[in-house]
Amino acid sequence: MDRQVLERAEEHFARLLQEQLERIERMKEDEGWVDYEKVKPIVIGVCWGDGIGPYICQQAQRVLEFLLRPELASGKVVFKIIEGLTIENRAKHNKAIPDDVLAQLKQCHVILKGPTTTPRRGDPWPNIESANVAMRRALDLFANVRPVKVPQQGIDWMFFRENTEGAYVLGSSGINVTDDLAIDFTVTTSQGSERIIRLAFDYAKRNGINKVTVVTKANVIKTSDGKFLDVARQVAKDYPEVEWDDWYIDIMTAKLVDPKRRTQFRVMVLPNLYGDILTDEAAELQGGVGTAGSANIGKRYAMFEAIHGSAPRMVEEGRADYADPSSVIRAAAMMLNHIGFADRGKRLEMALEICGAFEKKLVVTGRPSGAKGAEFADYLMETLQDPELEKRWQSYQ
Ligand code: IPM
Ligand code: MG
Repeated sequence: MDRQVLERAEEHFARLLQEQLERIERMKEDEGWVDYEKVKPIVIGVCWGDGIGPYICQQAQRVLEFLLRPELASGKVVFKIIEGLTIENRAKHNKAIPDDVLAQLKQCHVILKGPTTTPRRGDPWPNIESANVAMRRALDLFANVRPVKVPQQGIDWMFFRENTEGAYVLGSSGINVTDDLAIDFTVTTSQGSERIIRLAFDYAKRNGINKVTVVTKANVIKTSDGKFLDVARQVAKDYPEVEWDDWYIDIMTAKLVDPKRRTQFRVMVLPNLYGDILTDEAAELQGGVGTAGSANIGKRYAMFEAIHGSAPRMVEEGRADYADPSSVIRAAAMMLNHIGFADRGKRLEMALEICGAFEKKLVVTGRPSGAKGAEFADYLMETLQDPELEKRWQSYQ
């Protein structure tokens, strides 16, 4: 065996270990959560993204501006439009997030983000990392919180996907040791596991939900998934009022399509890659990834996004005005909850269900046969003005 080959691999591995050990030290510094009641102004950054991103984000921003009128007038809330998170600009700088864009993101408290293109092999772009993944890491957005609800079927799930570790954190740092040997790495830390698992248990406790399910593949991925599960065992002891169980990802994936079993799940907490996959499956049951919103939450920053892609084909075919803004508006509702306007976040969620699922006076189909995104946003805002909104929503339950 060529010594140089081994030395190169060892150096690579040593550097990764160093970085991860430093990350652990930063996590230990734990700065505590932002108290938005005390922050003025709360800066909401808006990144349009690519493809249909600008079209759907604009609608979400209109709805937010409508709901936050008093706070915009008093200066409690301001919007900051951040240009430059487009595939063209990212490719130009050959960076997942160009430095000046990252600097602007760091001037915000929370960010509303449209879908951004992740280049694949064969695309005309350099093979830069996903902007989502880079942003989650750069802003330490450790919790990917994804609700999925299908009230008619008794489905009411909240996923807490670990967002900064697992197979993702070194996803672009694998190594081709030789032409024949490719190695990737997966990372689990005690601190990283504890903070996401605690968030899931806290959520269950705060909302009177007596059930947390921890999902791993600890029977095979024994060291890193084993740690995640061990940490869960420890954390669970602090929540005697919350029952918990653990499942392996394969059978969990099966049980989500079992109508008899799936309604028993409520809060799920899981490592990054399993969370990625399981939340797409779950969103599909709700009506597709286009209907789901996603919150990426850290202690200092939070970012809210649609979980679907940028649909460049819709733009090429001139259909971008007909793209469905529901998912990013749902993300906006999660943002309202996060920054202390839970009442309005709840109203927006009710309006989304009324307009998108129950009443459907306008339906966005993605084609000119359906409504435009702007028309759907108008319909939502009209619905939000109804003083009987809650009663109207109740009548469908
Ligand atoms: C998601 C997406 C991203 C992920 C992609 C775009 C990198 O699928 O937000 O779930 O894998 O996390
Ligand atoms: Mg995904």
